[in-house]
Amino acid sequence: MLAVAQNEMITQTGPGTPMGEVFRRYWQPVALSAEIAKPGGKPLQVRVLSEDLVLFRDDYGRPGLLGLRCSHRLTSLAYGRVEDGGIRCAFHGWLYDIDGRCLQQPGEPEESSFKDKIRHPSYPCRELGGLVFAYMGPPGTQPPLPPFECLVRGDGSRNTDYYPINSNYLQNVEGALDPIHSTYLHMARWSEVKHQVLAQPQLEVSLQETEYGVWRRSWRDPALIRPGSIPYSATVYSYGHFFMPDGFMAIRRMSLRAFGHVPSGGQDKVAVQKTQSWYVPIDDEHCRRYLASFVNHSVTGGAPIDYSKPKEAYVAPGPENDYGRDYDGVDTISGIPFGGAKLRTGDGSAGGLLFQDTMVNETQGPIADRSLEHLGVGDRLLIMVRKQLQRAVDDVSNGRDPQFSRPEPDDEGLVRVCGNDEMEST
Ligand code: FES
Ligand SMILES: [Fe+2]
Repeated sequence: MLAVAQNEMITQTGPGTPMGEVFRRYWQPVALSAEIAKPGGKPLQVRVLSEDLVLFRDDYGRPGLLGLRCSHRLTSLAYGRVEDGGIRCAFHGWLYDIDGRCLQQPGEPEESSFKDKIRHPSYPCRELGGLVFAYMGPPGTQPPLPPFECLVRGDGSRNTDYYPINSNYLQNVEGALDPIHSTYLHMARWSEVKHQVLAQPQLEVSLQETEYGVWRRSWRDPALIRPGSIPYSATVYSYGHFFMPDGFMAIRRMSLRAFGHVPSGGQDKVAVQKTQSWYVPIDDEHCRRYLASFVNHSVTGGAPIDYSKPKEAYVAPGPENDYGRDYDGVDTISGIPFGGAKLRTGDGSAGGLLFQDTMVNETQGPIADRSLEHLGVGDRLLIMVRKQLQRAVDDVSNGRDPQFSRPEPDDEGLVRVCGNDEMEST
């Protein structure tokens, strides 16, 4: 458990909060590049770390992220027009460039230098692997955008996407990392296997602090690994990685047949998919999970993964649709089926579990009150993560860079957030 004040400290990320200052020292994804594909195209309103912002691509093709409300009389710039080297407010035509400089104030006298005194809030943006990243910290502390493996590797297939979540970032990070829950929450044919599950020895979990966060390896009873439960992870070991401050990396073996890449009757193949995720706070009660998935072509036998193929409409799980629950008809503990969720990508690895995961994370409340928890031995990982976050608050408030905000690329020029060669070599 955490004291109320400690819980508030690591869950609140608005401007001026201690954890908010930590988050502002890391580049965070704020949109997909495809959402602002066209130079001069329609601006996009976004909310990140409790700040209302407008994202656009100027007519030079550069992404810009500015404060949402015009410095003149606060009209939303999301209704402006992107033209003439910036974004023009629809009310009186003030024009701002991506650095927040005011280039024109058509209603002011021609000789006026008033526009030079205006500095509209702006944050630098960079694009990588299909995501737009922003740095919202103090200008003097801006690190380079890390060349994350899943975003820059050129020897495979990549997919990036996001989906919205109606609860605080931290309980979703913790839910993703939780090594124990798969055996219960994600177990198919629960009534058939529960005696076996409840009698099995305690899950073996090993944890290691790393330069990026925490590495977790857990062992499952092979007898319980069966099609339909824990989709596509036909392995006794499961790996998860926490990377600072809101990241999760999963490495999974994927059946290409299950992914729709092997025609029925054809020989199935297994690929290793790495999925790097950021649970970016929208505000303290909402976050957005960005995903970047990568499959190395050497493990697919050279075949590219066509991520666009199983595209389906996204259905948001929530209390309004009872998280898809069919209590009497579906044999999971919750009655929530697998495959109920459809990410826009149709990425089965996350999609099949999404309704179940979202239910357990959201029903803790908009911000889980960790002063009421009772953590057991199986929750050691969460304690490690919380300590790292608290240490980062300490670092930033004492003028130091927080952990993993300036990662060094390896010999191949990549920043990796996984430490286990065991899976990678397969
Ligand atoms: S409110 Fe934007 S130009 Fe006046
Ligand atoms: Fe899960």
